[in-house]
Amino acid sequence: MSDDFRIQLLVVDDQQSIRKLCCTIGASLGFACHEAESGEAALAYLQTNSPDLVLADLKMENMTGLEFLEQVKKQLPRTEVAIMTGYGTIETAVQAMKLGAYDYITKPFRVEELKLVLQRMAEKVRLVEENQFLRARVTTEMELNGIVGSSAKIQDVLRMVARLKDTRTPVLITGESGTGKELVARAIHFRGSFAKRPFVAVDCGSLVPTLIESELFGYEKGAFTGAIRSKHGLFQAASGGTIFLDEVGELPLEMQGKLLRVLQEKEVRPVGSNDRVKVDVRVVAATNRELEEAYRAGTFRKDLYFRLNVVTVHLPALRERRSDIPTLVHFFLDRYSPNQLLEVSQAAMQCLLQYEWPGNVRELENCIERAVALGNHTGLDIADLPPSIRSAPPASAALDEVYLGLQSTDLEEMERTTIQRVFAEVKGDKALAGRKLGISRATLYRKLKRYGIQGQAAGGGHSENQPPH
Ligand SMILES: Nc1ncnc2c1ncn2[C@@H]1O[C@H](COP(=O)(O)OP(=O)(O)OP(=O)(O)O)[C@@H](O)[C@H]1O
Ligand SMILES: [Mg+2]
Repeated sequence: MSDDFRIQLLVVDDQQSIRKLCCTIGASLGFACHEAESGEAALAYLQTNSPDLVLADLKMENMTGLEFLEQVKKQLPRTEVAIMTGYGTIETAVQAMKLGAYDYITKPFRVEELKLVLQRMAEKVRLVEENQFLRARVTTEMELNGIVGSSAKIQDVLRMVARLKDTRTPVLITGESGTGKELVARAIHFRGSFAKRPFVAVDCGSLVPTLIESELFGYEKGAFTGAIRSKHGLFQAASGGTIFLDEVGELPLEMQGKLLRVLQEKEVRPVGSNDRVKVDVRVVAATNRELEEAYRAGTFRKDLYFRLNVVTVHLPALRERRSDIPTLVHFFLDRYSPNQLLEVSQAAMQCLLQYEWPGNVRELENCIERAVALGNHTGLDIADLPPSIRSAPPASAALDEVYLGLQSTDLEEMERTTIQRVFAEVKGDKALAGRKLGISRATLYRKLKRYGIQGQAAGGGHSENQPPH
């Protein structure tokens, strides 16, 4: 494998034994290691090379480690630097961190200690690379866990996420635009045991066709005009983690063939290279097109379709799960106006509930963001909604359930749907339902009666209708 695809580590120390030790440890982690015996020698090296990681001694002749650190950060802001020192004082550590050092390690150190620091730095470099490739927005903790909804349909999706999160099974996520496909892809990755590994999202629809191959699989120096240095592809950036192929239906047929080969052989061949590089990547793909139709029409490879679609997670359109609308409205109000408790007028909520939402959750989110930005900050009323939503004719679909919910408060509606769902899940076993819901049997009986929920006779199970005394 060409050196250029590995993480590049530069070790700067005037003691040869330390340099050798660090390089051995670096090599054991799969890095390509280089040495310099002084700050000057290191800076000369950096004129023509850009290592990903630098490990530098704090105390060197002619130039201190801190001065050197400053120089490196100025020339190569993305390079991560860790400082080694025999004079471990808190002040120097703080100073080094302020100057942009990633970490600080005190000599003598244990092999495991240095390994950990190097591994963490490499991980950071991979993450930054991912961001650089994708200009991905920072995903906050809230977004990671923020799949909102208590409808049975979204609960089904959440159950699938829970089942898939610790596996490496390929997943195909389907659903209309704005239904939360990317949110679910991220949840599958970030909620599971591979969360610390990279998650790389690729929008197949927006890649320039001629560049897709080099973006996905990388390229060798000189592979084409402008390829002045070799570059990892997105598959390598995702190695060990997940690659999210968004809008996979947009891939040109030729690339579909190449992608299939990569998935089957678990290795990529960078453009212009004869070597193959092993990649171990979990693939989550998403599409808002009917891929099944596409393969029947010959615009999508059938074999690739089956390869990607080992498990399907289908995201329902928002209009198919209107009971989630009130929760989502409050969730987004909270997101865009976190310090205010905004009330939603009943008329506004009614409008939101009966609109068709062709753009699904994203459209709802935009609508709330707009209302918060333009509104008077006292509450959300009909006048705060865009004209298209305000004047939409009432949906013709059967909305009785939702209207019934509107008579009571949102909370009751949620309670009712939750109890109904759990009750159906346990096939009417009241004792089990009570335990799952965390309420006593007596409370459960009262609520079942109040909401008029009937037990589906659980074949042979006890289905007594009288509350216990
Ligand atoms: N169940 C949900 N709870 C909270 N927020 C959601 C939910 N579903 C979607 N969103 C939000 O709606 C927006 C759109 O979601 P996302 O980008 O995942 O949709 P998508 O299906 O990938 O859309 P597209 O097909 O247009 O790319 C995001 O801001 C996301 O956070
Ligand atoms: Mg998307």
